[in-house]
Amino acid sequence: MNTKTLLKKNTIHTVAVLLAVLLSLLPACVTRSGEKPVASKQPVEETTKAVDIGDVPLHEKYAPYFAIGTAISPYQLETHEKILAFHFSHLTPENNMKFANIHRREDIYGFSGMDMVTDFAREHGMRMTGHALVWHSQNPKWLFEGLVPGNPDDIERLSRRLESHIGTLAARYGDVIDNWDVVNEAVSETEGLMYRTGEESGWYNIFGSEEFIYLAFIYTEAALDANDSEALLFYNDYNVARPEKLEKIMKMAAWLHEKGARIDGIGFQGHWNMTEPSIDELKAAFDTIIEGGLKIKISELDISVYKDDWTTSTWEDEKPFTAELEREQAGRYGELFTLFREYSDHITEVTFWGMSDDRTWLDRFPVVRNNYPLLFDDDLNAKQAYHAIIDF
Ligand code: GLA
Repeated sequence: MNTKTLLKKNTIHTVAVLLAVLLSLLPACVTRSGEKPVASKQPVEETTKAVDIGDVPLHEKYAPYFAIGTAISPYQLETHEKILAFHFSHLTPENNMKFANIHRREDIYGFSGMDMVTDFAREHGMRMTGHALVWHSQNPKWLFEGLVPGNPDDIERLSRRLESHIGTLAARYGDVIDNWDVVNEAVSETEGLMYRTGEESGWYNIFGSEEFIYLAFIYTEAALDANDSEALLFYNDYNVARPEKLEKIMKMAAWLHEKGARIDGIGFQGHWNMTEPSIDELKAAFDTIIEGGLKIKISELDISVYKDDWTTSTWEDEKPFTAELEREQAGRYGELFTLFREYSDHITEVTFWGMSDDRTWLDRFPVVRNNYPLLFDDDLNAKQAYHAIIDF
C-alpha cells in the first residue's frame, strides 16, 4: 500500500474535516464482506493551488436529458459544497437512510444525518433518491433478532416494522424525494436461484419467501399516497445488464405487477469498469426494460480503473493514474453518456457514487487500493472524464 499517495494533497480542509470523514466512514464498516477500512485520502496540508472544477454545470448541460446526481455524506455538504452546488441537482444519501443508520432501535430513529442532507437539498432546489428501504445488508441487529423464520406471528411483526419504517421516512422526507429504491439487491447472483434466500437475507429468512418484496412496494405506494407524493418506485441492483440477472429482475417485476403492486423502474447501480458491461450489453438490457414498460435510472455510477477477475477473486495491483489511463477513462465515460443521451426518454437520472476521487468506496473494495473512478480528482479538479461528457 502506498501510504504516501493515500495521504497526499490538497487544499481547504482542516483537522475537523478529517475527523468528520473518519466518523462518517464508521457505518461503511458493516457493508459487504471483503470491505476493509482504509486510511483517508483527505488532505493533510494546505496548498494554494487554484482548483478548476469546470465551467459548465453538469446538471444544467444535462437538464434536457435527465437529472445528474451524486451520493453524499453529510460532512461533504461543507467540504465539497462548491462542486456539489455547482454540478449536481440530485442527491442520494450514501449511508444515512439505510436501516442500520436511520432506525437504530425499534422506537429510536437517528434522523440528524438525513436531516442535514434533505435541508441542503431543499435550500438548493435539489431532489433526492430515497436509498434504500429494503436491503439484505446494513440492517440493525434488533430488526430480525428473536424472530423465528416462517413463524406467522413473527412475519406479521416484521411486516409491521417494515410498514412503520417506510411510513415514517415517507412522512419526513417525502416532499424532497422524487424516487425510492424500494428494494435493493434482492435477486440472487447464483445460477438457477431466483432470490437471495435465508443465508444471505434476513428478510427472506424470516418471511420464508419473497413476499417482503411485494409488501415493501405496497407499503411505499400507500405511504406516498398518504403524503401526496408522486415519487417513482424502483428496484435497484448491480450486474443488471447480465442477461441471467435481468431475466430474474424482469420476472420479479412481472410478478409484482400481477399481484397489483406498482413498480416504475429498474436502477442500474453502474459500478462498472473500463470495458464491462459493453455498450451492446447495456443497449440490450435497456431495450428489455423499456419493452417491459419500465423506466431506467443509473443510480450509483463509478468507473473503476481495474478489471478484476471475480470468478477467482483475483484483484489487480494498484496502478498510478497516468495521462493515458485518464484518456482511456474519459473515452469510456464519453461513450456511456452518448448511450444515456440516446435513451434519455427512458432514463430518469444518472447519479454518481460520489463526486471526486478523494472519497470513493472503491479505495477499499474489494481490496485496499487507490482507485480513480469519478469525474473530479483528489483536489476536486475536473478530470478529462468531465470534459468528455460535457463536450458534445
Ligand atoms: C451497494 C449499495 C450502496 C453502497 C454500495 C457500496 O451498491 O446499494 O448503497 O453501499 O453498495 O458502497
